[in-house]
Amino acid sequence: MSIEKTLCIIKPDAVTAGNSGNIIAHIQKEGFRILAMRMTTLSNKSASKFYEIHKGRPFYEGLVEFMSSSACVPIALEKENAIAEWRRVIGATDPAEAAPGTIRKLYAKNKGENAVHGSDSVENGLREIAFFFTEGELEDLN
Ligand code: RTP
Ligand code: MG
Repeated sequence: MSIEKTLCIIKPDAVTAGNSGNIIAHIQKEGFRILAMRMTTLSNKSASKFYEIHKGRPFYEGLVEFMSSSACVPIALEKENAIAEWRRVIGATDPAEAAPGTIRKLYAKNKGENAVHGSDSVENGLREIAFFFTEGELEDLN
């Protein structure tokens, strides 16, 4: 086990529904350190780039449209074993399959509009954090 970083994004459905505060409280209750956070609205081009790993999959176009539809809140997180820990806390992609008490079970609308993002590997976590934040913004100010 080692200290890892992961990227959370509070997705547009959860921001619009007014669940950002509850989700940030959930993050802190689970012992993650918040390294950087902001609210932003992705352009179609930025969302396409962020999710280009999924290009060609049937949900890609809808995902890009949804993620650029209104504001989202990217948050850089740190914790021991953060990649697996954050995925445990958010639950399965489809809220119908997510465990009770997980963020997606609590707040997701459906498999596409599913409240939060989580990085799937240490390498992708660092790449995704760098997509939103500069090194300077990640300085340890806590
Ligand atoms: P994420 O990357 O957002 O943390 O989600 P994930 O790993 O659980 O799911 P992934 O397979 O990486 O898919 C990325 C996002 O695409 C949307 N999606 N929709 N309608 C569908 O069948 C479908 N499948 C995926 C979701 O927003 C998912 O989080
Ligand atoms: Mg994923």
